[in-house]
Amino acid sequence: MSYERKYAEALSRVIGDELTLDQIEALIEKPKHEAHGDLAFPCFQLAKAYRKAPVMIATDIAGELNDELFTKVEAAGPYVNVFLSRDVVSQEIINTVLDESADYATHATRNETIVTDFSSPNIAKPFSMGHLRSTVIGNAINQIARKNGYDVVGINHLGDWGTQFGKLMVAYKKWGDEEAVRANPIAELLKLYVHFHEEVKTQPELEDEGRAWFKKLEDGNEEATELWTWFRDESLKEFQKVYDLLGVEFDSFNGEAFYNDKMDRIVAMLEEKQLLVESEGAMVVSLDDENLPPCLIKKKDGATLYATRDLAAAVYRHETYNFVQANYVVGGEQALHFKQLFSVLRKLGYDFVDGMHHVPFGLILQEGKKMSTRKGRIVLLEEVLKEAIEKAQANIAQKNPELANADDVARMVGVGAVIFHDLKNERINNIEFDLDSMLKFEGETGPYVQYTNARANSLLRKGNYDGSTFAGADDDHTWGVVTMLNAFPHVITRAHERREPSIISRYVLDLAQAFNKYYGHVRVLEEDAGKQSRLALVKAVTIVLTEGLRLIGVQAPEEM
Ligand code: ARG
Repeated sequence: MSYERKYAEALSRVIGDELTLDQIEALIEKPKHEAHGDLAFPCFQLAKAYRKAPVMIATDIAGELNDELFTKVEAAGPYVNVFLSRDVVSQEIINTVLDESADYATHATRNETIVTDFSSPNIAKPFSMGHLRSTVIGNAINQIARKNGYDVVGINHLGDWGTQFGKLMVAYKKWGDEEAVRANPIAELLKLYVHFHEEVKTQPELEDEGRAWFKKLEDGNEEATELWTWFRDESLKEFQKVYDLLGVEFDSFNGEAFYNDKMDRIVAMLEEKQLLVESEGAMVVSLDDENLPPCLIKKKDGATLYATRDLAAAVYRHETYNFVQANYVVGGEQALHFKQLFSVLRKLGYDFVDGMHHVPFGLILQEGKKMSTRKGRIVLLEEVLKEAIEKAQANIAQKNPELANADDVARMVGVGAVIFHDLKNERINNIEFDLDSMLKFEGETGPYVQYTNARANSLLRKGNYDGSTFAGADDDHTWGVVTMLNAFPHVITRAHERREPSIISRYVLDLAQAFNKYYGHVRVLEEDAGKQSRLALVKAVTIVLTEGLRLIGVQAPEEM
């Protein structure tokens, strides 16, 4: 139970019926200055009922309040300030963490489902930096939602359909080489795609060929289907390597193609509601009334579009998962698409759209410029991750050459550094990509938090921590750690409500910092009667750091 709640209970015994327990709790604040106490209750709201000035009320209440939880109660103007007993509170909090272990701050199940659409790269194209962001943000959002008691479903809405596949087939049939594609699928397919666009400049008829092949694919032509399946399988194999490195899993890989046979129904509904209008030969839903450009449903040639497939996907997902919330973790560039999607769903009468959210994020920049896959400047994510791991390896070899399972640790640190860097600032910000600074052991990095946790674990080993509970302490350094540990449940809720993993990243940085201060001032391993109790605090810190990192998809080695 929160200390706000406990304070509210104590107040309620004095105040009586004028305010409910919840009302009292909602009024409780933190005093502006720490020296004025830990919690403050403003008395303004009681003035009318008591027919007294708030300052007088505060004095009266302060005189009557007593509870072993408070070491001091003070009226400060219209406020009643209390000082919590650090001895009592530190025991309660640390022992709760130890008792509940990784379950600390876990919300009981709600039996409600949240669906998150994330990663969703495009077949036969490289896994871009934007897809990396979507992957790590989406994964964190899912873990955080699960911690908050929801059932979660992670969907990889693969971009595996569209006219580009017709073009790719033409390119492959004209210039492709099976062996080369097998050896290096994505790079090779991308090359073919780029080549196609060069040739089109002088041979515009290639466009028609591409369209014809896509039509064949849509009509279920055998050769076209075989090629498409092959491109898709090879691409997925490569994407899977990245997911394995990142430790990210999905519940469904139903991509755009999956909705091919589910769009007629949407089109029929739109027609029935008289929402479809013709515009330059195409079929669109007008969104003039919402000041949005029309949503394109069918092209002149009858081909469906990205938006049509997303409409079908939304309806399918609601019917399949009955979600209370559906998130789309997709770059800010697609903001308009999602506005249109949600508007059309609303016009169709679907209330579930209230639970749908576009969760946008900023770009990854390199020296201030967008990292691009165009013009052959391909940044292959797998290579980036491998480089991060190699750098971590070199770091470890230098700092701790004796380390057992050094390769595993290097993977956790290298990959963790990339993920943490992505999640450490609010997702909407652009981020600068710089491997060297991400991998630093000091500053706001993943390795800094991991290293703090590893050091805490090594204290437990050196001190032979025996599982003791915490006996209480009232010094500032202990208190700094205790208030951080106490904040974790609230942090979990806020990160979920805002769909903002950086709230957790910031939190683990702050906790690591509070712990390093503690460690710098308190002699944890001193052989005295308090040693095992201090180690209990250290243990609680490792539990929460490890769990916090897990929620953002970062592993925490016990030694590094
Ligand atoms: N494949 C798309 C892209 O790379 C992202 C898909 C996002 N999900 C969705 N349901 N539209 O841009």
